[in-house]
Amino acid sequence: MLAAYAVRADADEPLAALAVGEMDPPNVPEGWVSVQVRAAALNLHDVWSLRGVGLPADRLPMILGCDAAGVADDGREVIVHAVINSPDFVGSDTTYDPERSLLSERYPGTFATQVRVPASNLIDKPPELSFAEAACLPTAWLTAYRMLFRQSGARPGDTVLIQGAGGGVATALIVLARQAGMRVWVTSRDETRGARAVSLGAHRAFPAGARLPERVDAVMESVGAATWSHSINVLRPGGTLVICGATSGDNPPKAELTKIYFKPLRVIGSTMGTRDELISLTHMLVATGVRPHIDRVLPLADAAAGFAAMIASDHFGKIVLEP
Ligand SMILES: NC(=O)c1ccc[n+]([C@@H]2O[C@H](COP(=O)([O-])OP(=O)(O)OC[C@H]3O[C@@H](n4cnc5c(N)ncnc54)[C@H](OP(=O)(O)O)[C@@H]3O)[C@@H](O)[C@H]2O)c1
Repeated sequence: MLAAYAVRADADEPLAALAVGEMDPPNVPEGWVSVQVRAAALNLHDVWSLRGVGLPADRLPMILGCDAAGVADDGREVIVHAVINSPDFVGSDTTYDPERSLLSERYPGTFATQVRVPASNLIDKPPELSFAEAACLPTAWLTAYRMLFRQSGARPGDTVLIQGAGGGVATALIVLARQAGMRVWVTSRDETRGARAVSLGAHRAFPAGARLPERVDAVMESVGAATWSHSINVLRPGGTLVICGATSGDNPPKAELTKIYFKPLRVIGSTMGTRDELISLTHMLVATGVRPHIDRVLPLADAAAGFAAMIASDHFGKIVLEP
């Protein structure tokens, strides 16, 4: 089968670690099912994998990709929940499983014509969503959904600042927060991307690090070191910072500990989401009509072009691959 996979780790030249070619389909263990992939979506996670972050050499070669929508063996149109939990995990919130992994970390990922997953990782794809739209949901959109609606405490009418306008998580946050009746502010390093965020639903866009007209109720952080101090400074007393990533580095020049306890703020980590939250997300999209913003759709054979765009931040929204 055709697949895009990591052959080695290259921290400086991640594209050099990518191969696209034929591979044998993986075995399907007892209790797992095979899905014919119709669309898969890129995430920055896939670039981290090529750089060797979270993907040790003894697991290579590894098919990349967390997100997919496709057709199961029984003909069902499905979305693949990307979080593979330990069968021994006990508890309702599966994001707390210390043994969890994402597809492409321990088990082959979705950038292939077929992917195999535990049967319980499939949810129904609503007919209202295209395969490409559905493929955007399991990582970026699910993460955004949980950050906003479970972790942030933000309510309709509250002001939410989203750091970094153009990424997959950021564009999902913009659309979901706007739909939920929040006042949506974004920052971007790039004026054009800020303007595109406004056309997507943000009320205002500001340059990265800008002084804001007033303090905000919640900040959605995925940029990390480059925006950390700004995120702490723009929050109102009692506000909430939800963090799901650290694209620019995880060691900010100032930790801002005094401001965090003195204001006092809530700082909450968030990662992916549960299967039930993924189902709720699909219901929200069907009920509201909102859809993921897709930057481009490429054939799987051209996966390198998608990776190159993501590495250069030359994308706005999601990049989708079709086998
Ligand atoms: N914990 C989880 O479950 C989870 C799930 C999904 C993603 N993540 C993490 O979230 C982050 C974003 O993922 P993604 O797939 O949305 O990536 P992406 O599509 O490549 O987006 C990257 C974002 O970062 C901003 N950015 C990048 N470098 C920056 C810098 N130096 N200064 C300011 N802004 C910068 C960009 O905004 P502008 O270019 O507009 O400024 C853009 O919004 C990644 O670190 C990823 O690992 C975590």
